[in-house]
Amino acid sequence: MSFVESLFGLQESVVVVTGGGGALPSSIAVAFAKAGAKVALWGRGTHHPMTEAAEQVKRQAGLPEASSAVVGVTVDTASGSACEAAFDATLKSLGMPDILLNGVGGNMGRSSFLDFDEKVFDDVVRLNLMAGLMVPSRVFARRWIDAGVKGSMINMTSMASYKGLSAVWAYDAAKAGVLNLTQALAKELASHGIRVNAVAPGFFVGNQNRALLFDEKTGNLTARGQAIIARTPFGRFGEYEELWGAVLYLASPKAAGFVTGVSIPVDGGYLSDNI
Ligand SMILES: NC(=O)c1ccc[n+]([C@@H]2O[C@H](COP(=O)([O-])OP(=O)(O)OC[C@H]3O[C@@H](n4cnc5c(N)ncnc54)[C@H](O)[C@@H]3O)[C@@H](O)[C@H]2O)c1
Repeated sequence: MSFVESLFGLQESVVVVTGGGGALPSSIAVAFAKAGAKVALWGRGTHHPMTEAAEQVKRQAGLPEASSAVVGVTVDTASGSACEAAFDATLKSLGMPDILLNGVGGNMGRSSFLDFDEKVFDDVVRLNLMAGLMVPSRVFARRWIDAGVKGSMINMTSMASYKGLSAVWAYDAAKAGVLNLTQALAKELASHGIRVNAVAPGFFVGNQNRALLFDEKTGNLTARGQAIIARTPFGRFGEYEELWGAVLYLASPKAAGFVTGVSIPVDGGYLSDNI
């Protein structure tokens, strides 16, 4: 095994990726599989069954069709009891998970402050903070503490965690909350050897923001898309694979064993933009 493999390889690991059918989480799952981990994709299977998502990740990771190293688990992560059952199913098929990537999250709608919709606000906060963090993380924390597993949780923060983005009030509040809770949980769980960190993607084109960034008819950038590019020193959106290194680093107990409570921006310089 090479030095780099020994530092970043995850051959001994079982990873759960929630929102595993989603754009960023499924790409991150490919990285985990390529690093040698067994991977369970947890998701609602709304758009396609989780078994299909698992087949796709296997193909993209270059694993043989017969490989059982990637599985799909259908679960609503807003439900604690459903997460408990999904944990048991994962334990049975792959072994004890030691890494949790909380990939559930996202935004719905945008409006001026004067027009914000209370129901949408509530839904977005619940999606990112409950289904996307509190509920599954508690299930993992309990299981890991009981079994003495020094696991690693990785949350999805955002540029909105650091600075409110215009017109997405609930997303701003929720992602600031994800950053805050990443630090609070890191402190809470440190005595058990459990690490809690986050990755903060800048702007990546995904299912949820495509319509905000590109005009559907012309395919040209919208005014918002143009503004983002103008404020990203690299002058482009991110490629999903550019998240892989930060995630694998945070996941690896050998590379990041003394790292907890941090959020790593992968943003083409967006947070450093200045005149
Ligand atoms: N796309 C970006 O540019 C970007 C930037 C910063 C942060 N993020 C964050 O990264 C994460 C993933 O974003 P994405 O763009 O890939 O989104 P996505 O919508 O493609 O993926 C999220 C997945 O979560 C699933 N999901 C939602 N609620 C669920 C629930 N209760 N139980 C189980 N599964 C559920 C959805 O079905 C979807 O497959 C989110 O937290 C998002 O806020 C994305």
